[in-house]
Amino acid sequence: MKRVLPVLLAIGLAGCTSTTPERPQLRASGSDQSQVRAQETLRQLTFDEKIGLISGKMLSFVPAAKRPPGVTLGAGWVAGVERLGVPALVETDASLGVSNLLQMREGDVATQLPSGLALASTWNPDLIHRGGQMIGSEARAKGFNVMLVGGVNLVRDPRAGRNFEYLGEDPLLAGALVGAQISGVQSNDLIGTIKHFALNDQETGRNVHNVVMDEAPMRESDLLAFQIGIERGKPASVMCAYNRVNGRYACENDFLLNQVLRKDWGYDGFVMSDWGAVHSSEAILAGLDQQSGDQIDQKRWFSTEMTPKVQSNAIPISAVDQAVSRILTAIYRQGLDKWSTAERADIPYSANSQVALQAAEQGIVLLRNENNLLPLNNDVRTIAVVGRDIDKGVLTGGGSSQVVPVGGFKVYEVAGTGPAKLFARRGVGGTAPLQALREAMPGATVMFSDGADPAAAAAAAAKADVAIVFAEKWATETNDHADLSLEDGQDALIQAVAQANPRTVVVLQTGNPVLMPWLDQTPAVISAWFSGQRGGEAIAKVLTGAVNPSGHLPITFPASLDQLPHRVLPGSDAPRADAETRAVYGVQAGTKPFDFGYPEGSDAGYRWYDAKGFKPLFAFGHGLSYTRFSQSGLKVSGGQRLTIGFVMTNEGERSGADVAQVYVSRRGKAKRLVGWKRADLAPGQSAQAEIAVDPRVVADFDTTLRKWVVPAGTYTVELAHSATQVAATRTVKLDRMEIAP
Ligand code: BGC
Repeated sequence: MKRVLPVLLAIGLAGCTSTTPERPQLRASGSDQSQVRAQETLRQLTFDEKIGLISGKMLSFVPAAKRPPGVTLGAGWVAGVERLGVPALVETDASLGVSNLLQMREGDVATQLPSGLALASTWNPDLIHRGGQMIGSEARAKGFNVMLVGGVNLVRDPRAGRNFEYLGEDPLLAGALVGAQISGVQSNDLIGTIKHFALNDQETGRNVHNVVMDEAPMRESDLLAFQIGIERGKPASVMCAYNRVNGRYACENDFLLNQVLRKDWGYDGFVMSDWGAVHSSEAILAGLDQQSGDQIDQKRWFSTEMTPKVQSNAIPISAVDQAVSRILTAIYRQGLDKWSTAERADIPYSANSQVALQAAEQGIVLLRNENNLLPLNNDVRTIAVVGRDIDKGVLTGGGSSQVVPVGGFKVYEVAGTGPAKLFARRGVGGTAPLQALREAMPGATVMFSDGADPAAAAAAAAKADVAIVFAEKWATETNDHADLSLEDGQDALIQAVAQANPRTVVVLQTGNPVLMPWLDQTPAVISAWFSGQRGGEAIAKVLTGAVNPSGHLPITFPASLDQLPHRVLPGSDAPRADAETRAVYGVQAGTKPFDFGYPEGSDAGYRWYDAKGFKPLFAFGHGLSYTRFSQSGLKVSGGQRLTIGFVMTNEGERSGADVAQVYVSRRGKAKRLVGWKRADLAPGQSAQAEIAVDPRVVADFDTTLRKWVVPAGTYTVELAHSATQVAATRTVKLDRMEIAP
């Protein structure tokens, strides 16, 4: 008999939206008492103390003897005011754990979570919140009080090198998840920073490129992800991005910072710059409050350069005061003054690693499983396992987010020039898939080859019951991929192994989707992303069925580059920066400045495929399980408030988790994800879910009315297993709704 869970599953918990048409309050948590205190402190500050608060340093660039004593080296540091009890800000990157590789903390380790795309594949805000709590607690124990987390730039191009850090292509999914992450981090009395505001969706030319985009599509996509993330996570800080948007640098963009963020969204935290993203002192008038790591900007715009400008009234002192008061408010509101970064605490790494394991287990996506080749069962006596470094650990993405995991890892320098050279560290660590598989299948003989010799790998595969090829495509901040192909002959390696053994499984360790010219020959494919420090175990558990895979793609896998809005990645063909360009645009300018637009507009990712009628290789939302789920009982009510109810049932023999998705479309418009429910279900068990749709997700942004508008009319509601696999459809009439921006 099927059991129905007695209560309606709470939508907020499941990550589905429940926002009413009123604009939600964007102000950070805490009473206005912090603003009052900020004003009191402000009155007592000297001019130099104010300048100290608005200008940050990279301590790693400061000679050791001149560094403030007892401060942990991280991405940045901002002087406090000791005499008034204002703590210094000690900043670290932290999207995937407390990062430590680039920060010159030799020997330091931290719990390393899977990549952002893996986290997003869980569609599980509760788990991501716990990950955030864990990261915040480790950061605090190490002496940090500002966390540069989380990144919510939308994935628009699957070649973008930093996608692995972000949370996918959908504004609702990414916004809800980043909000969960930030609120987890900030629960440790810390400042969290949502980033990179806005439209820094690719790395190529990130310091010089100019995104040309109308306001409406911007609001309906990238900005909506930030808006939702800020509402839910209440980050005390926003980090503005490197690039330009409609001609203005994001960190001196009045439209983004003063109009959208502050005026429309009512945000009253502070804005810090990305490192090396400031180009003038006047940025303070456009809404920037703090210059981060000012040694890597062309000038110390908020200190050395600011002082004479304020003295001559070119920049009013009120602008400095306003910035200082926002920073102080955040400090008091988050309770940074209640503890000292000089305190250190022991970190329960073993307990903390549980969240890394769960995230890896839930983030792995089973893409294909013909004839139920997986999970491997007891009949499998010999396995040929092939793959580079899988005897050493799993792969991690490069850049400022990189975390040396507990247990350490092996770092390979990768070819790169300029800033890319700094970030070009291919790290391999955590639990090794090979050993984990051997432990998970003690009765089987597991042969291993690193794949350098495809003929030898194929010969081993020919003798085995099953072959497993691990393929990788490493990714890093600052570098976009030239294409979506596996490098170094890995396609040929997979083909050779699959030809030798038709029972071949491919495990992908990538920061992005890849093309799969061998797909027809490989009955099973798993995307493990960069799976974090317990990744090897999680992969082995999924392969053997100890864990039933439940990850769903937060990003579309294209069938070819021709399906992408840009056949050629913008700027990848732009001339390299010459000395003169670098002198004007800074040391990080990799190319000469270039402009580009996004032909897909607000329809990033699956919406573009829907609008164009393209069939992707694997759709957004796709993810298989070792059990079968049905989705039924779709009920929809409209009018002034769109609510959607449905039932999910595990029809199979194994426990598992389903992620039911709801998409809404209207005539002439691409479908949009409006909510989802992730439910753990025993065999035969059902769960009910109800989604109250945030109307902004289905609305148009009307730039004349300066409001969101849901046009009256008929809408199609789909209950679905993925963006392309629909279980049930209903139509519903909605009244016109107008919602504040
Ligand atoms: C990145 C930011 C990071 C900062 C500090 C920059 O390169 O874009 O995400 O927070 O460095 O490490």
